[in-house]
Amino acid sequence: MAFNRTLITAALPYANGPVHIGHLAGVYVPADIYARYLRLKGQEVLFVGGSDEHGVPVTIRARKEGITTQQVVDRYHELIRRSFAEFGISYDIYSRTTSAIHHRFAADYFRAMYDAGQFVEETSEQFYDPETGHFLTDRNIRGECPRCHSLGAYGDQCEKCGATLSPDELINPYNAETGNALAKKATKHWYLPLDQYQTWLEDWILNHHKEWRPNVYGQCKSWLDGGLKPRAVTRDLDWGIPVPIEGAEGKVLYVWFDAPIGYISNTKELCDAQPEKYGPWEKWWKQPDTRMIHFIGKDNIVFHCIVFPAMLKAQGYNLPDNVPANEFLNLEGDKISTSRNWAVWLNEYLEDFPGKQDVLRYVLTANAPETKDNDFTWADFQARNNNELVAIYGNFINRALVLTGKYFGGEVPARGQLTDYDNQTVEEFKNVKATLEQLLDNFRFRDAQREAMNLARIGNKYLADTEPWKLAKTDMERTATVLHMALQIAANLAIAFEPFLPFSSEKLKGMLNLDHAIGWADLGRIDLLSAGHRLGQVSLLFEKIEDEAIRTQLERLERIKRENEETAKQEVLKNWRPEPIKDSTTIDEFDKMDIRVATVLECSNVKKSDRLLQFRLDDGMGGRTILSGIAQSYPNPSELVGKQVLFIANFPPRKMMGIESQGMILSAVDADGKLVVTTVSTPVKNGCPVG
Ligand code: MF3
Ligand code: ZN
Repeated sequence: MAFNRTLITAALPYANGPVHIGHLAGVYVPADIYARYLRLKGQEVLFVGGSDEHGVPVTIRARKEGITTQQVVDRYHELIRRSFAEFGISYDIYSRTTSAIHHRFAADYFRAMYDAGQFVEETSEQFYDPETGHFLTDRNIRGECPRCHSLGAYGDQCEKCGATLSPDELINPYNAETGNALAKKATKHWYLPLDQYQTWLEDWILNHHKEWRPNVYGQCKSWLDGGLKPRAVTRDLDWGIPVPIEGAEGKVLYVWFDAPIGYISNTKELCDAQPEKYGPWEKWWKQPDTRMIHFIGKDNIVFHCIVFPAMLKAQGYNLPDNVPANEFLNLEGDKISTSRNWAVWLNEYLEDFPGKQDVLRYVLTANAPETKDNDFTWADFQARNNNELVAIYGNFINRALVLTGKYFGGEVPARGQLTDYDNQTVEEFKNVKATLEQLLDNFRFRDAQREAMNLARIGNKYLADTEPWKLAKTDMERTATVLHMALQIAANLAIAFEPFLPFSSEKLKGMLNLDHAIGWADLGRIDLLSAGHRLGQVSLLFEKIEDEAIRTQLERLERIKRENEETAKQEVLKNWRPEPIKDSTTIDEFDKMDIRVATVLECSNVKKSDRLLQFRLDDGMGGRTILSGIAQSYPNPSELVGKQVLFIANFPPRKMMGIESQGMILSAVDADGKLVVTTVSTPVKNGCPVG
């Protein structure tokens, strides 16, 4: 369908921490490339974003940092907003879901659906903490896993055995934060009856949006094939937008109900403030000649392709035209995680690499997780900068400009007759505009950027083949033509890279003194600079990144990894509970074990084994040797010499590592798996029985 303008949305990041490279690669860089591209083409575009300030993540962060939830969202909203701006994410508006306009708009939206009978009401029994009076989210409920009986499984999953759980299945559920045992209480909620939208959604997505990315289409299909069920759009929480109807005290809108409405309320905020520039907000949300594109990460697909469209449909809004969701970006082989601090944070990057916004933009697009998860490594970051941005793009620009300065005083020389080779080169990049458009229109940003870099490669090869620095000694006329053509390629590069590397294009345009409005339409032309045009000040477009800077980043990650291992250990200890008692036994069974006391005479590591210790014992009966697999717990085995220990005397002898072991020494197994040899604290005769 023909459209006259495009509304671009980028997922609203939770204001529970700074933005990291995973967010950037998955959502914000592609959204920005697309917005810049359309604007460069002269299209009417609105690029909307903001912070997602409700939901459980921000409240968890507040408790962790010991500040109020409002302080958390104020802090991170401001931090995120500022770093996006510095990074060149060209939002028309970046607002927030705690704004008065949004609260009002989202509440009205709920109310309108409620009045139209578009919700179903249901009362159900939910877990709550009788001491705090709070209902709990699945993640905040823990208890014994019904499958593997490990303790500390979550209400939605057991991390020990991987089972997907519901809180009802947990044995002895408790509040993860307070440790209190939970009770159940009836509570009323409002549900969006997605089942009623099933047929319509199937037709809309499966029949009419076959062009969506396979990962997006596939996820939608599997949700639809599973059969949609009503979803609660309210929660028992005290942080959020109050449910605007009577009898709903203490309840708020579910964060996934209010957040996407933020796209609309933020549009409204902007349009209300500058109506002459943007028109009425309804133009962007209700007119059929407006097309909407949602940029999101893969964990947001169901909300943007199924839940939000149902809400939009219910109220007669436009539906998204495409939802180019990305897969995930990993960091140095590990999943990025805000809570584990395993990330490269945008605000820290901007501090550590000032002025290098485009390097990160370039690397994230070059490795964009468009079709599968991808990995960010600092080594690759350095290599892409040094071998591509510096060695190809930067090198070409620098040679073209420096040589023009040297031979022609910084003025674009007039060109003479083009040779076959010149024409062949022109031929090679003549199609760059069509190719780039084809890729960008299909959200293939990674390939599109590669195409732009290819143009720089063509330029580089052109100079390497024609060698103007040698030509200048014999043929100034030919040198003029070569540099003239090189400068035209340079001007084309400024356009081609503008959506991807806006800071560098700005700089390059300055160096070329291209202040007149060249735009996308000019791409592919070889008359962008006329003879006699004076170039601007020349400087390096990109700089090499040294090993030292990379080492600093890797050391930081190493440190975080160590800290995380330590925290994980503490976590295990904190959640440790004694194992359930074994099945009952009898005194007769116990009596079969001949347990005795002995003094340790010698204790040392068994050669070539990192597990075994060899004990020589005075057992009061002539002595014996016992091997015990506790070496990991005793880095200094001689500390056991002189201690009286307990051992089982009537196990048949067993050979290990060529040594015969005559029994077993008793040890306690501590919570962290450490083994502690049980000792007798008051001296007794060696060989005396234990029972
Ligand atoms: N805050 C969500 C996340 O980070 C995204 C919300 S997108 C919106 O996963 F549509 F709800 F705004
Ligand atoms: Zn389990």
